[in-house]
Amino acid sequence: MQKDGSDSRDGRELMEKESCAPLMLRLAWHDAATYRADGGKSDDSDKSTGEWPRCGGVNGSITFAPELDLPCNKGLTLALSLLYELQEKNDLVSVADVIQMAGQVAVEFSGGPKIAMRWGRSTTGVKYLCSDSDRGNPPFASSLSAPEHLRQIFGLMGLSDQEIVVLMGAHTLGRARPSRSGEGAAATCYTRDGPGRCKGGSSWTQEWLKFDNSYFKNLLLTPPADSQLLRLSTDSALAEDPVFREWVEKYAEDQELFFSDYARTHRKMSELGAKFEPQEGIEVDLEEG
Ligand code: HEM
Repeated sequence: MQKDGSDSRDGRELMEKESCAPLMLRLAWHDAATYRADGGKSDDSDKSTGEWPRCGGVNGSITFAPELDLPCNKGLTLALSLLYELQEKNDLVSVADVIQMAGQVAVEFSGGPKIAMRWGRSTTGVKYLCSDSDRGNPPFASSLSAPEHLRQIFGLMGLSDQEIVVLMGAHTLGRARPSRSGEGAAATCYTRDGPGRCKGGSSWTQEWLKFDNSYFKNLLLTPPADSQLLRLSTDSALAEDPVFREWVEKYAEDQELFFSDYARTHRKMSELGAKFEPQEGIEVDLEEG
């Protein structure tokens, strides 16, 4: 615990108690992933002005039922219920900021890089943002290969091939569960006994609460060396596509490079579509309070 009690305010205490860092990182990503670089015109042409908040992104809209209820967000209600505890301790901070704070702290708490963030994101009161256009991760379209599917999803957000690979490295943390995404096994030797209140599922890495470059190392093992570990088609795509693979090899080789690229790209993700008040945002180092 730090001198000023910030462990309980920034979520570290919660992550220690609930082993929920992966879930919080997924929540932060899913609030961001509704962002459309074209302002939403591609899926919302007659209504979108392209302006905040209809461009989607980091605006706290995931807390509202239409978006939260999308199939791709299954399981995130638990993340939000844990987050309310944090919101109460940070009542002057916006919901959009608290969600992103939880994502940043999740990475750092799990041993990942320090991410320089800024604060002051506005939270939308627009509840219908995603009810008319499925702005979550688009469902897997069978006409697309897995690499094309990835480029489609991230391309809508204006993210590059390198940014796709480095962000996917977040799957070094956490698990997939049949009861949520329908992916993974009920339990594996790495998840059967927890920790945390929700035991089970399939993880991408053996130490799924540790943020490191083992996700990339595992992807390069052909055939997969460990049948207890998960590899979705969108994960395999990173090792199969020649452009993605170059980055996978670099990050598997050099954890420092992964960490510095991840920290920069995570910050970008945490600001997709955000409206800051004041406009330049507020720089605060959480560790210094
Ligand atoms: C198109 C790309 C992606 C796909 C298809 C995908 C798919 C999935 C699926 C199916 C799960 C399992 C959910 C569950 O059953 O609880 C999951 C979990 C997770 N995802 Fe992704 N993901 C993608 C991108 C990302 C990105 C970019 C990040 C972060 C920057 C991320 C972070 C996570 C984390 C941390 C978990 C673990 C959650 C937990 O343990 O509760 N994912 N993802």
